[in-house]
Amino acid sequence: MRRCVVIGGGAREHALAWGLSKSAEVVVTPGNAGIAAHGITCVTTSALELDADLFVVGPEQPLVEGLADELRRQGKIVVGPGASGARLEGSKAFMKEFLASAGVPTARFGVFHDEDAATAFLATMEPPFVVKTDGLAAGKGVLVTNDLDEACEDVRAKLSGAAFGSAGTTVIIEEGLDGEECSLLVLCDGTTAVPLVPAQDFKRVGDDDQGANTGGMGAYAPMPAMSSGDVELVMTSIVAPTLRELARRQIDFRGVLYAGVMLTSAGPKLLEYNVRFGDPETEALVPLYGEGLFEMLLRTGEGRLSASPVATKGFSVTVVLAAHGYPQHPRSGDLISGLGPDGQLAHSIEGVTVFHAGTALDHEGRFVTAGGRVLALTGVGASIGEARERAYRGAALVTFEGRVMRHDIAQAAV
Ligand code: AMP
Ligand code: GLY
Repeated sequence: MRRCVVIGGGAREHALAWGLSKSAEVVVTPGNAGIAAHGITCVTTSALELDADLFVVGPEQPLVEGLADELRRQGKIVVGPGASGARLEGSKAFMKEFLASAGVPTARFGVFHDEDAATAFLATMEPPFVVKTDGLAAGKGVLVTNDLDEACEDVRAKLSGAAFGSAGTTVIIEEGLDGEECSLLVLCDGTTAVPLVPAQDFKRVGDDDQGANTGGMGAYAPMPAMSSGDVELVMTSIVAPTLRELARRQIDFRGVLYAGVMLTSAGPKLLEYNVRFGDPETEALVPLYGEGLFEMLLRTGEGRLSASPVATKGFSVTVVLAAHGYPQHPRSGDLISGLGPDGQLAHSIEGVTVFHAGTALDHEGRFVTAGGRVLALTGVGASIGEARERAYRGAALVTFEGRVMRHDIAQAAV
C-alpha cells in the first residue's frame, strides 16, 4: 500500500488524513487526539525524518518557512508550494503587488507603514473600510467596517504592534467589495490548474455575519450560486494570469492555490490567495472526492495533473463548534459530551463525520476542548438541505460548556 504523510494538527488535516486513508497508509504529524482516536497514526516525528510516497502540508506557516523546499531537496513528492510561492499568502503586500503585475482583478489598495499616511488614504475611501495586516494572522487580521474612526483605531493598533506583533506592522488598506464570496480551491502542478468544486466559507463568528472575523465557522460545497460559467471565468480571468506570472517569476507552484473570490457586479475579483487547503472548506470538500483524493494529490505533487476536473457526488455542509470565548479568548478544558471513544458521534448519524480541530483527552480519557475551533461536523447528502439537516442533527448531539456555533451555515443555499 502506498504511504502518505499529512503535516498539521487540525480538522483540515483530520479530513485530509481520513480521505487519503481510503487508498493509502496515512501518518499525521503531529495530528491530534481525535485523529488518533479515529484510528489514524499520529507521530511527533518531524516530516523531514519520515518516508512516504506523498507529503501533504496542511497549514501555511511551515510552507512560508520552506518545509516543502526541504522535503523536495530530499526527493519527496509534496503537495504545497515552496517558500517563494507561499509568499502569496505570507505577505499580503507581496500578493497585491503580484496581482497588479499579473493583471488580476482585485480591490484597489495601498500599503502603509506610517499611521498618518494610512489614515490620510482611508479618508479618501468610501465605506466599507478594509484594514489588513501584511503578515500571517490566522484569518483574524482583517477589519471590515463602515466606521472611519474604528478603521483609524485599527490601523493604530496594528502598526504599533499591539494587535498582531510584527505580522501587523505593515497594513494594507483596501476598497470594500460587495457581493457573494466564494472559495475556489485550485490544484496546481506547476503548469496545469484544476479547480475543485466551489465552496463557501462563513468567516464571521455570529449568525447573519455578525461579530468578529474568525478562521471560519462553517462551509458547504458545491456552491450553487457559483455556476460552472463563473468557475470558468475565475479560471480565465484570475487563475490563468496568476500561473503566467508564477512562470515568469520561475516559481514552480505545486499545491493548492486557494482563491478567495468576491463575485461583484463588475465580475469576480480576488480578495486573497491562500497557498493551502482551506479550513473548514476542506472538511466539506474531502468527503465529496471519496477514493479519488490520493491519486489527485499525487498527480499534483508529481506534476502530472490532467486538465479535466474530477467528478464529485452529492453535497456537504460543515458546522464548526468553537470554544467558549472564541475567537478572542478561547477557553480550554471543557468536557465534551456526545462522542464515543473513537471521537465520532456516540449515536452515529448516516452521512456525518466528526473532524477534530482542538480536542485533547483528560486524565480519565474523555475528550475536552483544547483550542479555538474544537470540532467540525460534516454532513453529506443528496441535496444541500439533506447535508445541512444531518450536520446540524450531529451538532446538536455534541455539547460542551460555552459552545460557540453558527445556526445559519448554508441556510441561504438550501
Ligand atoms: P482575507 O483574509 O483577505 O480573505 O479577508 C477575510 C475576510 O474579510 C474575507 O473573507 C471577506 O469576507 C472580508 N474582506 C476582505 N477583503 C475585503 C474587501 N476588499 N471588501 C470586502 N470584504 C473583504
Ligand atoms: N477558510 C479560510 C481559510 O482557510 O483561510
